[in-house]
Amino acid sequence: MAHKWFETVAVAQERAKRRLPSSVYKALLAGSEKGTTYADNTAAFAELGFAPHVVGSTPERNLATSFLGQPAAMPVMISPTGVQAVHPEGEVAVARAAAARGIPMGLSSFASKPIEEVAAANGQTFFQMYWMGSREQMARRMARAREAGAVGLIATTDWSFSNGRDWGSPIIPQSMDLKTIVTRSPEALLRPKWFLEFARTGRPPQLQTPNLAEPGQPAPGFFEAYYEWMQTPPPTWQDIAWMKQEWGGTFLLKGVCRVDDAQRAVDAGVDGISVSNHGGNNLDGTPASIRCLPAVADAVGDQIDVLLDGGVRRGSDVAKAVALGARAVLIGRAYLWGLAAGGQPGVENVLDVLNGGLDSALRGLGKADVKDLRPSDVLVPDGFTRALGVPGEAQEPPEQVEHRIAEAVAAG
Ligand SMILES: Cc1cc2nc3c(=O)[nH]c(=O)nc-3n(C[C@H](O)[C@H](O)[C@H](O)COP(=O)(O)O)c2cc1C
Repeated sequence: MAHKWFETVAVAQERAKRRLPSSVYKALLAGSEKGTTYADNTAAFAELGFAPHVVGSTPERNLATSFLGQPAAMPVMISPTGVQAVHPEGEVAVARAAAARGIPMGLSSFASKPIEEVAAANGQTFFQMYWMGSREQMARRMARAREAGAVGLIATTDWSFSNGRDWGSPIIPQSMDLKTIVTRSPEALLRPKWFLEFARTGRPPQLQTPNLAEPGQPAPGFFEAYYEWMQTPPPTWQDIAWMKQEWGGTFLLKGVCRVDDAQRAVDAGVDGISVSNHGGNNLDGTPASIRCLPAVADAVGDQIDVLLDGGVRRGSDVAKAVALGARAVLIGRAYLWGLAAGGQPGVENVLDVLNGGLDSALRGLGKADVKDLRPSDVLVPDGFTRALGVPGEAQEPPEQVEHRIAEAVAAG
């Protein structure tokens, strides 16, 4: 399929919507409950403005940087997503696109492709794990990723199994066997290009999790793995320190939005954190990650690499996050839409859109280097930021706290 260039991520999303069966598109959109956090992640970026110069920009600008011990062509990384059935080449296509554009890759443990294939396609692959199964199982999964050449581990611990969305959750079959294809044929027939792409490979979409397979065993199905995860007691900070030690290399804790948690993560020995709310898919009501970034970056940014993910759709969003203290951002839906719209070239297209937008922001701000971005380059409206978990700082305005206490007292 020849790729047709798209000029923004919004256009890629529109194409993905037209191309994918509605259940697969809905699975990418995700979000949880009312979608407050999901919406705030992008709305908050739009609230931020720029303070541009009009004369004196340099003819060329440097976008390259490094984070988590890796060089990168720009401060962007692929965030791990456990979404399957978007495209037959799946995470391998994403890894190739990221490698072609000099960007590190994050691979979800719920991904459809094995770490060996993905790490071979991108020499800067980070393997992502949840806290699930026994320590022995986790140690085996880490050893396999290390052997495959993963350069870092991402631990995601912010999942709280919130369920339900006001706009409904898609029904996702475990595998597309003949019976499922027949019962779901109206969806497939409405999206023939997507269906044909899988048909050509001779392998219908399967929801397997090859990176969670036990030695000598077949890959567990998505729902089987999800059940194992649900049964695992949540980790303690000692567990995180153990995980980092067991991995023995670069370690990113993803999902931190409070300052006190960021400080505990430093104590646990992590090399970096991503200020994140899981793209709004988790605890609805968590503020946009860009609102939480400045306080976290102020507190620990000189000790570890502070990254951000959630709501990044434009190169200017990357500039805003870096100006407010992020070493880099991770992107989720942006590349998933690119993948759905055009496979590997579609993901490359998304990365080019971000690159062009970041370069344009640097030019407008009169910066020769992405590392020169500062908070003063961004207009931050009053009341924008949220300093979560700052000792001694009230999270609610005092009058609201008083009102709540009065109500509780009245209610006995
Ligand atoms: C469909 C979907 C699946 C995801 N699966 C995972 C996952 O398996 N592991 C993980 O750490 N994060 C997962 N995430 C969260 C992303 O890594 C990232 O935090 C989020 O997408 C960032 O927000 P954005 O989509 O607005 O860029 C998922 C996100 C989406 C949208």
